[in-house]
Amino acid sequence: MRIGILSSGGDCPGINATIRGVGKTAIVHYGMEVIGIHGGFSGLLNRDAAPLDEDSLSGILNLGGTILGTSREKGFRELLTSVNQEDSCRITQAYHELGLDCLVCIGGNGTQKTTNLLAQHGLNVIGLPKTIDNDIWGTEITFGFDTAVNIATEAIDRLHSTASSHKRAMLVEVMGHRAGWIALYAGMAGGADVILLPELGFNAEVVNETIRERVRSGKHHSIVVIAEGVRMPDKSKATDYLMQEIEASTGIETRATVLGYIQRGGTPSPFDRNLATQLGGYATELIARGEFGRMVCVKNGCVDSIPLEEVAGKLKLVTPDHDLILQGKHMGISFGI
Ligand code: F6P
Repeated sequence: MRIGILSSGGDCPGINATIRGVGKTAIVHYGMEVIGIHGGFSGLLNRDAAPLDEDSLSGILNLGGTILGTSREKGFRELLTSVNQEDSCRITQAYHELGLDCLVCIGGNGTQKTTNLLAQHGLNVIGLPKTIDNDIWGTEITFGFDTAVNIATEAIDRLHSTASSHKRAMLVEVMGHRAGWIALYAGMAGGADVILLPELGFNAEVVNETIRERVRSGKHHSIVVIAEGVRMPDKSKATDYLMQEIEASTGIETRATVLGYIQRGGTPSPFDRNLATQLGGYATELIARGEFGRMVCVKNGCVDSIPLEEVAGKLKLVTPDHDLILQGKHMGISFGI
C-alpha cells in the first residue's frame, strides 16, 4: 500500500511527531510505502511530493512546525465545491497519479472539512486533529493544545511578578478565535483573577468591579486572561478597549501582553508528543483495516475514530457549565458576566 501524508492550516507543536507516528508505523509495522506531500493540499494538486523513509522520519519528534510545510486550504476547497467538475477532477487525478491508496490529512477544522469533501469525491482519506485551539468537534483533545497551554501558563506566571511589584492590572491575550479553551485552561492554571472567553462574552463593569473589589480586600494587582476572539459589539477585538477601560474606571495602571504566535511555535510538550504518536499510529491501523473517511479522535480518554462527515463544519466550544468554569466561580474567579 502507498499512503500520502500532508499537513494543512496553521502550524502547531506536534505535527512532526504525528508525521513520524504515521510514517514509522506504516513502514515498520505494516510495510507500507509513505509519500510526504509538501505545502498542504496545494502540494497534492501540484504533485509536490517525495518519499519518506525511516531516515527522513528520524530526529523530528521534538521539532516544532512541520517538515512537510503547510498552507491554508480555502482555495483548494473551492475547487472541490466548484460547479465545474473539471476542477475537482484535477484533484482526484493528482491523487491517482501519485499512486496513493490513502491520503492522511493533518489539520484543524478547515482541513477536516476539506478532507471530508475528498472522501465524498471517492478518495480514501483519514483526518488527524491538529490545533492549539482544541476546538475540533468529535475529539476530547487535539495535539498542540497542551503545549500552547503550557506556554501561556508560563507567560501568565511571569506576568504575575510585574503585576504585583507595580500594582498593575495585566491583560494577557491568548489565541482562540471562536473557542476559549486556551484562555480557560491557561487562565485557571496561571491563577488568573478574570478569564474572558468568546463563548461567554463579557460585561466591562463586571470586570472592573472584580478588580476594584480585589483592591478593597488589599490585592492591588490583577491578572485578566482574554481569548483573542472576545469581541466588542462592532466585532473589533476587546483587548485594546479593555486595557483603557480598566485603567479609566479603576484607576489602576493597566498593561496588555499579546502572546500571539509564540503559543504555536517550538517544541511540543511530552504529552503532545505521545498523543500525536498514538493518533498517528492509529491512523495507519485504520488504513490497514480499510476504514477510510474517518478522523482519528480521543473518546473517553482512548484513541478512537469518528466519521469525517460528523466532524465537518462543526466546532467544539467551551460550555458555561464546564467543570473548570464552575470550579473557578466557586473560588471567586470572574468570567466577566
Ligand atoms: O492555529 C489556530 C490559530 O492559532 C488561531 O487561534 C488564530 O486565530 C489563527 O490560528 C491565526 O493563524 P494564521 O494567522 O496563521 O491564519
